[in-house]
Amino acid sequence: MSKLWGGRFSKETLKEVEAFTSSLNIDQRLWSVDITASVAHANMLGEQNIISAVEAKQITRALLEIHEELLLGKAIIDNTSEDIHSDIEKKLYEKVGPIAGKLHTARSRNDQVATDLRLYLRTEVNHIVTAILDLQNYLISEAEVNTLTLMPGMTHMQPAQPVSLAHHLLAYFWMLQRDKEKFQDSLKRINKMPLGSAALAGTGFPIDRMMTAKELGFLGGPCENSLDAVSDRDFVIEFISVAATVMMHLSRLSEELVLWSTPQFGFVELGDDVTTGSSIMPQKKNPDVAELIRGRVGLVYGDLTGALTMLKGLPLSYNRDLQEDKTFLFRSVDTVKSCLHLMKLMLDTAQWKTENMQNSLAGDFSNATDLADDLVLNGMSFRQAHEVVGQVVQYCLKNKIKLEDLSYTELNKLNPLFDEAIVGKIKHMQVMQARNSFGGTSSQAVAEQLKLAKEKLS
Ligand code: ARG
Repeated sequence: MSKLWGGRFSKETLKEVEAFTSSLNIDQRLWSVDITASVAHANMLGEQNIISAVEAKQITRALLEIHEELLLGKAIIDNTSEDIHSDIEKKLYEKVGPIAGKLHTARSRNDQVATDLRLYLRTEVNHIVTAILDLQNYLISEAEVNTLTLMPGMTHMQPAQPVSLAHHLLAYFWMLQRDKEKFQDSLKRINKMPLGSAALAGTGFPIDRMMTAKELGFLGGPCENSLDAVSDRDFVIEFISVAATVMMHLSRLSEELVLWSTPQFGFVELGDDVTTGSSIMPQKKNPDVAELIRGRVGLVYGDLTGALTMLKGLPLSYNRDLQEDKTFLFRSVDTVKSCLHLMKLMLDTAQWKTENMQNSLAGDFSNATDLADDLVLNGMSFRQAHEVVGQVVQYCLKNKIKLEDLSYTELNKLNPLFDEAIVGKIKHMQVMQARNSFGGTSSQAVAEQLKLAKEKLS
């Protein structure tokens, strides 16, 4: 048995054309779901008396054998096959002879490949959701022990107001939570079955699509329109766009890890087992994993643009362009999975240098807002208070004194409206603890936040 479609051709396909049109290199990872879908299809054909029960049994038994052999490496995928669907059919033919040809009744590779892809992606989305959960659990457990660990909160990369490390880490928890919810929601749309749409228009055979949908666990049932079913790759676009968002979040965290592991910051030290050295500078310990995660975002953005462009302007229904969907999708799946996993491995080794974080606050003026707030509490307008504190900052810079070290006498001389309690209020810990609004950084507000975060995971 050579080609699935050889009958009407009188010349051999050019080798170059075969190589150019083959998708086996890419789609061979669909072998297992392809067999699963074929087994369901054969069962249905037998049940509906489209093929005999004996034939259905023969076909399904052989398919399961092929599955077992491929799994154990007793059979290998033949790299001269046009695609994985042809290869499995070829293997079936070797086992059962011409009956193998009956499997393709009321089916086309067009609905087959769309079905395979959805089966594949459904499982991968669940793996990715688990990987996100692992990261979220890490963030929660580190946050729990760091609600009183002070660090600079930044805007414009300048110290702005102190926050806790817990609050900073939990910011990433919520980003990942949204990503995870989007992936979970996308399952609703992935979980619809194209099988039974045949090439494009449905089939005259009395198939039972409800039966195959049920057997294959397509909770959303069969796709309602056969043309849409074989042409639609919205679920691929949706997946890659959510993947692009997760990657963007991971890259922001990576960037912070890169920055924080510099000696200049010294906020974190990553383990020797997740960092690399330099071939020329013996002292180096480089955060390459974080940099590569940051770098690989580009692959996923590229896949998104590639997939959108591939689909743009395609007339209904199936066109061979669609074969490229797998290149984009698979690379995005692999990238997001490995980056989530490696981020977790890297964070597991992170030693948070909490003393350095805390020390970096000294004299950083991130308590200046609170000094102004004090004047407001004593009756001054905020604009005026802003001006007064600006002058206090200038005074400190000129006299090389930290804002939090100013005595009450000095402050009072700078403005008589300052009250005595202000000296305590501008200590960084108090500044952090004062931000007690819902969603704020105080340890009490973060405890509340942690409760909500844990509720999301339970
Ligand atoms: N390898 C093809 C793909 O991935 C399978 C469908 C081929 N269908 C066709 N009519 N040529 O899209």
